[in-house]
Amino acid sequence: MTQKTYKIAVLPGDGTGPEVVREGLKVLETASGKYGFRMEFTEFDFGGDRYLSTGEVLPESAPEELRRFDAIYLGAIGHPDVKPGVLEKGILLKLRFELDQYINLRPVKLYPGVETPLRNKGPEHIDYVVVRENTGGLYTGTGGISMKGTPHEVAVQSAVYNRFQVDRCLRYAFELTRNRNRKKTLALCGKTNVLTYVFDLWERAFHEMGGRDYPDITREYYHVDATCMWMVKNPEWFDVIVTDNMFGDIITDLGAITQGGMGIAAGGNINPEGVSMFEPIGGSAPKYTGKHVINPLAAIASAQMMLAHLGENRAAEAVEKAIMFVTANKLKGMGAGRMGYSTPEVGDLVAEHL
Ligand code: IPM
Ligand code: MN
Repeated sequence: MTQKTYKIAVLPGDGTGPEVVREGLKVLETASGKYGFRMEFTEFDFGGDRYLSTGEVLPESAPEELRRFDAIYLGAIGHPDVKPGVLEKGILLKLRFELDQYINLRPVKLYPGVETPLRNKGPEHIDYVVVRENTGGLYTGTGGISMKGTPHEVAVQSAVYNRFQVDRCLRYAFELTRNRNRKKTLALCGKTNVLTYVFDLWERAFHEMGGRDYPDITREYYHVDATCMWMVKNPEWFDVIVTDNMFGDIITDLGAITQGGMGIAAGGNINPEGVSMFEPIGGSAPKYTGKHVINPLAAIASAQMMLAHLGENRAAEAVEKAIMFVTANKLKGMGAGRMGYSTPEVGDLVAEHL
């Protein structure tokens, strides 16, 4: 019997990115050996160091080249010697947009043994998914500055959505809610009381699609400010939240801290019809680089999402179980330097418990 082989592009990136990616690859190799498939890894050196030595942020050919892989596994992008925005826009956002990864999938799930800052909440209360629109809104709207440096300077940056972008994001969220088969509740997070154009479009599209195609799914609506409040006070209300790019960016950092922080929070940039890219939500954490203290669980959990996305469900479930075993029985904390183990030791623990 020939084994299925997945071609994975690996972008370790900057700072602690390479350290956490190494542990993710360790777990992927163990999982593939155990569950009977192969993974072929091809590494790319995109990131701050490459930019500083070559002056090129991302080769022109990169998106085209990456399109040929089954998935992309990314560590972190961001370098202390590069002005903020250059690498983020030039690599991370560029790849999301060029590869049309229009969904940013961010589970907010508290694993056993992980401390949450939310009082009296445990794993039974914190288990939902945020579907963040990933290619539009403020991130890609037009804008500019005129009369720069004068007292009359004007800066404009506009949130732009078309019906197509909104519909395909909502479609994904409704399907996810149905497939999760939990509370069957999809919450739209917006700001219809102020952003009366953009979120009017979102809200109408939401109810039209839901009423027509998803009668089995309960629809809820929350303003973004209230969403933040309820994510802290009553996280158990949520099953799936769908929202625009900017609000999704903000509320998923809040979600991440409620599930134990950047050491554990994982995400996927999904193109359901193309190539998707999996990455820990946290950044490159330059001050911890090379110290072997960074928590690789977020990267390992991103690898787990990649397995699920590729359809290797048994392997994905096993990796998640191993992560949960490690959080419940081994790690002292989730923060860098607080785990009671080094970065490679945490990777070993997960791999051993697979
Ligand atoms: C994220 C990050 C990025 C974003 C930055 C680094 C461009 O904050 O993935 O949430 O804003 O999307
Ligand atoms: Mn963010």
